[in-house]
Amino acid sequence: LSPRLKAPRGTFDVLPEAAAGYARLEQAARGLFERAGYGLIETPVFEETELFERGVGDSTDIVRKEMFTFEDQGGRSLTLRPEGTAPICRAYVEHGMHKLAQPVKLWYLGPFFRHERPQAGRYREFHQVGAEAIGTDSPLADAEMIMLLSDLLAELEVPGVTLRLGSLGSLGARREYLEELRAYLREHESELSREVAERIDANPLRAFDADDEGTREVMASAPRLLDRLEGEDAEHFAAVRELLDGAGIGYELDGSLVRGLDYYTRTIFEFHCDQLGAQSQVGGGGRYDGLVEELGGPPTAAVGWAAGIERILLAIGAPPPEPATDVFIALADGAEPARAMALLTELRRAGRSAELDLGGRSLKGQLKQADRVGARQTLIVEPGGTAQLRDMESGEQREIEPGRVLEEL
Ligand code: HAM
Repeated sequence: LSPRLKAPRGTFDVLPEAAAGYARLEQAARGLFERAGYGLIETPVFEETELFERGVGDSTDIVRKEMFTFEDQGGRSLTLRPEGTAPICRAYVEHGMHKLAQPVKLWYLGPFFRHERPQAGRYREFHQVGAEAIGTDSPLADAEMIMLLSDLLAELEVPGVTLRLGSLGSLGARREYLEELRAYLREHESELSREVAERIDANPLRAFDADDEGTREVMASAPRLLDRLEGEDAEHFAAVRELLDGAGIGYELDGSLVRGLDYYTRTIFEFHCDQLGAQSQVGGGGRYDGLVEELGGPPTAAVGWAAGIERILLAIGAPPPEPATDVFIALADGAEPARAMALLTELRRAGRSAELDLGGRSLKGQLKQADRVGARQTLIVEPGGTAQLRDMESGEQREIEPGRVLEEL
């Protein structure tokens, strides 16, 4: 016996029952973004590796250990996209979108890839829905972004959602704070995990994200950037908060919030769902005012987010299957299959959903199958072209004239 093949670790098949959930989520997102004037963008599933090294940052976990990177036959290093913001900024620069009216408002949905340890809610291939507003530093854009994600989660009835909000300040202002944080971390170096200690220079903010006990204790009294915001950074953050307050969006100020990607500046946020266990972050995002320039474009402020589709679907539980078929067409013994085919086509062309038994079942088996697919009515085609219409709920059955099937249904 040859060994059976399986989907690769951390990946999964989306079977038809689950696909309904994806479709529902996509439909909700599409409606939301259309009402808000966001255009759909699709970028390639793989990009030059350098895009993520420069965009996401080579001291991040994502770039250091989670990328699916390969060499193509021409010797180029390519990477399956671990996230969507850097590719979209690459496209913004490549297509000269800074010449359009700003901001350019985009949304996207698709597969992303990270080589993480798989667990519930964490996969190596997963799907995100996300949005970016590129070319604006207005706090209105931050607030609109947060409201869009909040609305999407509300429309999908994701339970137990909380919003954590923070600010990382602008790049210039952060420099001073990072020096202070590095000095603090060096003072406590022996209490930190090795990983954090090794990255004091490269990525000191990561220490806030560590889960080992020692580091967490040290970080509980570490200096917080949120307490050091000054000038325009402080004003910007205050304006975002005021807009959220005005819109009635509740949030928790979180001075220890840092994100796993290097491009963030100023506002950052995460939505968590208390039903999800360890992987509770359903979505997150923030401002990234330096990224477009980092990728060779003009200085451009921008803000956006992405949400994990599998996590949203896990949080809301599998949606009930849609009532499927209007009419199931069954063949009585000796009936003409061609007649059934013709009826099937006629019904579908008239916009009704109709199924024909393709399994070679007996009439009894066909009626069972009609129940299984949730058919409301079954049309039993008889020899000679007559037909019986059976109501599947009441079991009532009546004869209908061969030429009048559509009218009778
Ligand atoms: P992120 O926080 O890395 O942000 O990912 C966004 C969401 O994707 C997470 O909140 C989570 O729900 C989901 N997610 C991430 N990794 C996995 C995984 N391995 N399995 C399942 N779900 C996962 C970004 O990707 C940024 N590009 C968001 C952004 C857009 N920032 C500004 N604009």
